[in-house]
Amino acid sequence: MKRKDLLGLLDCTAEEIDEILTVGLNMKKLLRAGKKTLTDLQGKSVTTLFYENSTRTRCSFELAAKYLGAHVVNITAASSSVTKGETLVDTGKTLDAMKNDVIIMRHPMGGAPRLLAETVKAHVVNAGDGMNEHPTQALLDMLTMRENFKSLKGLKVAILGDIRHSRVAKSNLYGLTKLGASVSMYAPRTLMPAGLDKMGARVCRSREEALDGADVVMGLRIQLERQQGGNFPSLGEYAKYYGVNEAVMNYAKKGALIMHPGPVNRGVELTSGLIDGADSRIEEQVLSGVAVRMAVLSLLTKGEK
Ligand code: CP
Repeated sequence: MKRKDLLGLLDCTAEEIDEILTVGLNMKKLLRAGKKTLTDLQGKSVTTLFYENSTRTRCSFELAAKYLGAHVVNITAASSSVTKGETLVDTGKTLDAMKNDVIIMRHPMGGAPRLLAETVKAHVVNAGDGMNEHPTQALLDMLTMRENFKSLKGLKVAILGDIRHSRVAKSNLYGLTKLGASVSMYAPRTLMPAGLDKMGARVCRSREEALDGADVVMGLRIQLERQQGGNFPSLGEYAKYYGVNEAVMNYAKKGALIMHPGPVNRGVELTSGLIDGADSRIEEQVLSGVAVRMAVLSLLTKGEK
């Protein structure tokens, strides 16, 4: 991979995504074998810079960098000089001056990682920017699918939930369609943005239509923190009319995978039975997250002394 930064999958070619997944699958094999002392990032410094809360992404980036031998520093907005009025660009220049090699950034504003990437010498990885993209989440989702199905070509993926506010939905749509999968989407009209069909999605009018013949069913979190309310009557009614349950899963292929990027609103996007059932790959996605982030960090810095 020849790029300086990973800001989104809209920017990436199918070949780049394929390379990340291939390296990621190898990393996952190493992790399963208990190998956590690699040297790809030996002598490198990695900073996670998170302006929004996170469990999975921040922790898995930190572990990925440490497993590759990097020095790692973690900064959250609440504990940084952002609270004293420092700008994003000045924060970036400060981190650059300390010879950081990679900055991993989550920010509530779409485009913030791109602004940082244009300002700093360090590689920048987008760990989720507002409602724009979450590239490594989509990569780990694709890695999990590839491990189960070998190829993504022709795979039918149904995505249901709060698509309007979801950076995960967008990155998955870009990545999956580039690798030849078809993506069906369904949500209440109030949670479906316009123009998804022009971005390559099959926009559906019911859960049954979205799940029809699906190989993978992905629930997305209802992002109450990005809403003013009024998009649906209540979480109970959302679950009843729009959530994925055992009955509606009968429309998907037998044994279709259940996925969710997390954190899950249990019993809202997916029933507890599906979350904890035999076809669930939600925990598997978490391990894929460490592996794919190791792949991204290794490929971005490859060949650098
Ligand atoms: N999937 C995801 O981005 O989770 P976190 O918000 O916990 O990082």
